[in-house]
Amino acid sequence: MSRYMLLMLGFVVVTTPVRAQEGDVEAGAAVYEENCAICHGEKLRATGAAPDLKGLGADQRAKFDMLVSQGKGQMPSWEGILSDDDKAAVWAYIRSRAR
Ligand code: HEC
Repeated sequence: MSRYMLLMLGFVVVTTPVRAQEGDVEAGAAVYEENCAICHGEKLRATGAAPDLKGLGADQRAKFDMLVSQGKGQMPSWEGILSDDDKAAVWAYIRSRAR
């Protein structure tokens, strides 16, 4: 492999969006701000345009996964956009901020 190819490869790796790890609150916050905050409110402060996600109970993970995958009403489906780890990280972020 030429040095140029290696450089290109490094560039691709560096510019690939952050991929969250399961349960990673900080990564979840980043995924949330990038994809969800526009409707659900910055830093999980609901604006009224979409439900307050902090209202989801600890036992509603299954509902969360289903709604995020399938979408509902005005909310788009995130299937194929967010990985399972991304979703798990957003969930961890929401739980870390929930009352
Ligand atoms: C285009 C605006 C928009 C974006 C972007 C968006 N949502 Fe939503 N979301 C909504 C709306 C509107 C609803 C209410 C849908 C309904 O009940 O008809 C909703 C509902 C939900 C619900 C169900 C909440 C409940 O209490 O029933 C969850 C969970 C959710 N969104 C998670 C997310 C996540 C996670 C993201 C980012 C990956 C996201 N949403 C991005 C608009 C959005």
